[in-house]
Amino acid sequence: MTSGIGAGPRTVVLVSGSGTNLQAIIDAVAAGSLAVELVAVLSDKPEAFGLERARRAGIPDIAVGYNTFAQRADAEHALAARLASLEPDIVVLAGFMRILPASVVEAHTGRMLNIHPSLLPKFRGLHTYRRALEAGETWHGSTVHFVTPELDAGPALIQYRVRIAPDDTEDSLAARVQQGEYRIYPRAIDWVATGRARLTDAGAELDGAILAAPVIEDELPA
Ligand code: GRF
Repeated sequence: MTSGIGAGPRTVVLVSGSGTNLQAIIDAVAAGSLAVELVAVLSDKPEAFGLERARRAGIPDIAVGYNTFAQRADAEHALAARLASLEPDIVVLAGFMRILPASVVEAHTGRMLNIHPSLLPKFRGLHTYRRALEAGETWHGSTVHFVTPELDAGPALIQYRVRIAPDDTEDSLAARVQQGEYRIYPRAIDWVATGRARLTDAGAELDGAILAAPVIEDELPA
């Protein structure tokens, strides 16, 4: 069985892109504030910079290049097999831009987290910054939630909120929201790793109480 960095539940991170959230997770493990063992980073894109971040940190990196398969179902099967072979306790989606088959999600119920750049249930899906600006929202942010088969709809644990400024652009808003993602995602993963957070039939639970709403962390004034 592979081994990576850190100590705690075996955790696999799935990435498709630059992996700045992955980096925050790696840094939290290295700093001792996130109690997981990062056993592998898995990507659907061999060129994802997140895989390079894994290599630099001494974490096994695995690519299942979706584009090398004739059928998407074959790629999904290959990814599911690699993931299963790693025997993860926790699966972290960190900018993973594929929809996982329901069977993969269900195999990790309560042990799979995602971070989505909106204040869910608002703006599920893509282009969340543009849509929030176009809608004239006052607040935007990011949500860490348990993954369920319905896209971006699983019970939320924590949200980072920023107030939208009149001169905000998609880029300026994204930059501020992402700074908050690096704070809330390692924290939420640690809650799951240490058993503080669980998924129950009644929703997400933290420290023994069902969350009627996610924990909210607001951006500090500049
Ligand atoms: C994050 O902003 C996250 O909200 C979304 O995808 C982005 C991934 O960025 N799911 P990175 O790859 O972690 O830099």
